[in-house]
Amino acid sequence: MSNSQEPLAKKLLQDAGQVLRDNDHGHYIAPAKNLYPHQWLWDSAFTAIGLRHLDNDRAQQEIMSMLRGQWANGMVPHMIFNQDSPQQRDWGVWNSRLNPNAPEDLSTSGITQPPMLAEAVVKIGEKLALPERRTWYKQVYPQLLAYHQWIYKDRDPHNEGLALLIHPWESGLDNTPPWMAELNHHLLPLWIRTIKAAHLEPALSLFRTDTRFISRAERLSNVEAMALYAVQRRLRRKHYDIGAILNHSLFIIEDLAFNCILARANQHLEAIAKSIRQDIPKDLQHSMDKMPKALEELWDPYNRQYYPRDFITHKLLKESSIATLLPLYAGTVSPERAEVLVKMIENEKLFGPAYPLPSVPLESAYFNSKRYWQGPTWINMNWLIIDGLRRYGYKDHADVLTESTIEMIAKNGIAEYYDPLTGEPLGADDFSWTAALAIDFIKAKH
Ligand code: GLC
Repeated sequence: MSNSQEPLAKKLLQDAGQVLRDNDHGHYIAPAKNLYPHQWLWDSAFTAIGLRHLDNDRAQQEIMSMLRGQWANGMVPHMIFNQDSPQQRDWGVWNSRLNPNAPEDLSTSGITQPPMLAEAVVKIGEKLALPERRTWYKQVYPQLLAYHQWIYKDRDPHNEGLALLIHPWESGLDNTPPWMAELNHHLLPLWIRTIKAAHLEPALSLFRTDTRFISRAERLSNVEAMALYAVQRRLRRKHYDIGAILNHSLFIIEDLAFNCILARANQHLEAIAKSIRQDIPKDLQHSMDKMPKALEELWDPYNRQYYPRDFITHKLLKESSIATLLPLYAGTVSPERAEVLVKMIENEKLFGPAYPLPSVPLESAYFNSKRYWQGPTWINMNWLIIDGLRRYGYKDHADVLTESTIEMIAKNGIAEYYDPLTGEPLGADDFSWTAALAIDFIKAKH
């Protein structure tokens, strides 16, 4: 930010700190008021990354409080429910105690979300002197290790080096094009197809909570939302048991965003282990070592980009999204391929509108500047890609994107996501990870 914009950054720091205080439930910070009263896995990690600049003890508590939800098999669930919230229906829907690994003393979901914890642990560690950093690492390492072991054990059954996901909510990019294409082309259950054919879709609005708070045009269609709930119910019927789920499900994807984040999380886990002189167990190390090569199998030489892959057919799912750029964050791809991705960021028809980075390239048939993960700019994605750009040596690109991101938030408010064409704030107001990452962007510059 230029000197004339310093006051804007100062005001943003104050406002962002206030948002985090307002959304604080004592031991965790909720993503936003009303719509998001519970604790979400990757939200807590991103929130802790910013919070460390204000109160590093509280940032540590944020991580520990998410780890309370860890299952006996190592899974960290994507949500821990706030049982005092009026949105109690949310946790009734899951009933995750059907699975014996679920904790008894709190209610969680039965699926996970991108493994951002290791990144947050390291970022918090950067703020500590070496002895305290080691103490912190020792405190979290056993749970972090168990989480990574669970990912490979349950989600890489064929030992391919890539994790599979069983619901788009696990990707964090709920309605991202590759998942929605699969859903619409193959998987709408008969009852939902019937509703669609009979034009009864509007009646389904009664079942939605999100559209009570957010404009319908920004979210999933009713049919898509019901289809995602139907997939969730199928998982519940299998008691969230991965063996049973894999035997019956057709909706299993080796997701690109998740695996890029996992690749980076593995690097962090190794660094944490090294610093506290622990050896990563051999099986896990073996699986982690496969990641760089496995990610290259997601490269499509014709369209010259990475895609997610269908776990069963092994076909690449050729729909671009913001995940297309995340191999930069993974850090495992060659400089030549990183350059191909940087060219896509520079391209105005792809990822280069006035307020980058859009969650879907502008020329995609899915692009809609207001619809959730099908166009809007999300601050956590910018943060990951900026981090990747720096590590690949694209300092100027990283600086420019950091500036434009800070400016967009400062001028439009701390929103969940933004219209990439106009900068208009969309989704929930006073959104925690936007606040936290704005703080991180500003503080990282000083
Ligand atoms: C939405 C987002 C997801 C996020 C959650 C809570 O479902 O798609 O990524 O974790 O909200 O903020």
